[in-house]
Amino acid sequence: MPNKKSLVTEQQVLAALSAVQEPELRNNLVALNMIRDVQIEDATVRFTVMLTTRACPFTGRIEEESRQAVMKIPGVKQAIVKMDANTAADTRIRGQLNIPVRNTVAVASGKGGVGKSTVTVNLALALAKQGANVGLMDADVYGPNIPMMMGVMDRPRSVNGKIQPIRSYGIKLMSMGFLVEPDQPLVWRGPMLHGVIRQFLSDVDWGDLDYLLIDLPPGTGDVQLSLAQAVPLTGAIMVTTPQDVALADVRKGVGAFEKLEVPILGLIENMSYFICPHCGERTEIFSYGGGRRAAEQWEIPFLGEIPLNPDVRLGGDTGKPIVALKPDSLEAKAFHELAQVIAAKISVLNMTRKTPGIIADIPILKH
Ligand SMILES: Nc1ncnc2c1ncn2[C@@H]1O[C@H](COP(=O)(O)OP(=O)(O)OP(=O)(O)O)[C@@H](O)[C@H]1O
Ligand SMILES: [Mg+2]
Repeated sequence: MPNKKSLVTEQQVLAALSAVQEPELRNNLVALNMIRDVQIEDATVRFTVMLTTRACPFTGRIEEESRQAVMKIPGVKQAIVKMDANTAADTRIRGQLNIPVRNTVAVASGKGGVGKSTVTVNLALALAKQGANVGLMDADVYGPNIPMMMGVMDRPRSVNGKIQPIRSYGIKLMSMGFLVEPDQPLVWRGPMLHGVIRQFLSDVDWGDLDYLLIDLPPGTGDVQLSLAQAVPLTGAIMVTTPQDVALADVRKGVGAFEKLEVPILGLIENMSYFICPHCGERTEIFSYGGGRRAAEQWEIPFLGEIPLNPDVRLGGDTGKPIVALKPDSLEAKAFHELAQVIAAKISVLNMTRKTPGIIADIPILKH
């Protein structure tokens, strides 16, 4: 509320801020209901910008543009901007599973061994480092190796009938592997899994999660699809290496998700190229760029690329993901950028669902 002594009004502040755009959502901060707590005291204006994700790639730019817009109001000598975030939620999850998870993201690949689990773990860490509450569900019933990659030796315990996820690197982790003894042969069929995974997800004490990443088993068969149908998925990420064989399998995966009406958030090219640690020379081991070309051809977003680096493998083998082990490395930075791109796409998706009139023309999720 305006102070009696002040000549500046809240209306003026909102008018000024309605000139500031959220680049991803393609509308202004006021129309998107992102401005909160406007306080005016003499010539000082304070307000909060509530973003739709903590991993917003434009935080700095939005902060600066809002400050400048308010400073232009005659009589304002100081503008103090607080940046906050309330992750946009896929409301279907709450409705169907009744768990306090805002978004579920499946990470899939056609072919095995392309680095899906590595990507899932590092994306989870990157999102968490950017301030989000992140859960990680290892749904790879054939080879649940996420606990190892996250350096987890313990098994979850149950408290008051709820399974307590294991915490590692700030991530809440659960694995289908915890359901079975390590040396027991595992035979799962699609319909059986469907029930198990739903029950499993509902029985876990996730707490409030902004993102739950789900590492699916490789392939696009019965089991994968059953898993994908068991949980309302906000979107799916496809991981590939640049070779044609891996790409051909991704195509099948994209088709399968499309049939289930799961939006494809995009494609990541892993083991994209190699930078020699000694001379800095870049070598494109598997025909680099195949992922980007394929994404263009299939009209799905290309999210980015991760270089091949022995440190990434070492991190996985020793339970120290590269984002934690070498936070300043090229690879860690690539994961951070990917996390931002993905978080932004999820925001757009949720906001588009909620307010079709405002941003229905966004060409980001073409599938
Ligand atoms: N960018 C990278 N650079 C170097 N090694 C990598 C990279 N990404 C993954 N790896 C290594 O490749 C191997 C396969 O990776 P990962 O287990 O993540 O693949 P996956 O697709 O999940 O496999 P699966 O199909 O068995 O589930 C691992 O040893 C991992 O450490
Ligand atoms: Mg895996």
